[in-house]
Amino acid sequence: MKKTPLIIDCDPGVDDVLAIVMAKYVDKFDIKAITSVSGNVGIDLTTRNAQLIAGLLDLNCIVARGAEEPLVKPKREAGHVHGADGIGGTLEMFPKDCGKDLSKDSALNVLRDTLMKSDEKVSIVAIGPLTNIGLLLKTYPEVKEKIEVISIMGGAINNGNATPCSEYNFLVDPEAASIVYKSGVPLIMAGINLTVKVTLTDENLEEIKKIGTNLSEIGHKMILDYTKDDPAIHDPCAVLALSHPEMFEWEDLYVQIDTREGFTQGMSYADYRLRDPKKPNCRVLTNIDLDKFRRFTVESFK
Ligand code: BDR
Ligand code: CA
Repeated sequence: MKKTPLIIDCDPGVDDVLAIVMAKYVDKFDIKAITSVSGNVGIDLTTRNAQLIAGLLDLNCIVARGAEEPLVKPKREAGHVHGADGIGGTLEMFPKDCGKDLSKDSALNVLRDTLMKSDEKVSIVAIGPLTNIGLLLKTYPEVKEKIEVISIMGGAINNGNATPCSEYNFLVDPEAASIVYKSGVPLIMAGINLTVKVTLTDENLEEIKKIGTNLSEIGHKMILDYTKDDPAIHDPCAVLALSHPEMFEWEDLYVQIDTREGFTQGMSYADYRLRDPKKPNCRVLTNIDLDKFRRFTVESFK
């Protein structure tokens, strides 16, 4: 089978870990690299968590450490949602020393090299603040031609979660998000308008637990811990948008990001004007087949 080369840029983060588990389960993905970024927890922990899950899943990919703080704003974390360890209190459940070695290269260099050395275009799943990706596109604009698509979990159309207007990843680094949306690279957006609909049932959680592997027990505990604060399973949507586009409905729209300080900072808004709307720069996901999502989630832990 012809595989799709994939990079996952993330801030694990419970739902980031779920997204990586699902990406591994998709046969057609060839995961080339996982790059960490500061977000849900600080960069030391997001990097360590990326190493842990890559090791536990025995992924044959590079893991590289990314940006320690957003491009302009001071950093902001969400340990209250993802646990102090960023993985819902499951750290002790990972086998000792299971973490994959860390690349000596920075995430920025790994992103550039993975893209430039690839014979075919590479897809990127970006599920944390867009700091690494914004830096990449500004520093090495030549990579744009090598990117098939960036599938983003971030932003929202007409709502938010970190503030009434803004989603967490875009609020953390609005400047980076703005660079990405202005880049001209094909984008898919799994924003809060979609992901608030994406939940798991108690039965799904029991099914995951019953699988009885270390991975499924970690997954079960992590999800249980995380969903006490946030029932929405955000990040896997950006993976499934690439592997299972038939699960989604979408609209192609022009989206821009508010970088200005104040109440609407980090807000993403779409041009819905009937007369002369701007040319779409993004595929905005609007709906999901929830039954299929839930089935796939459980299966991916088997
Ligand atoms: C996003 O923010 C983080 O808390 C999650 O990992 C997800 O990427 C949701 O707003
Ligand atoms: Ca995330």
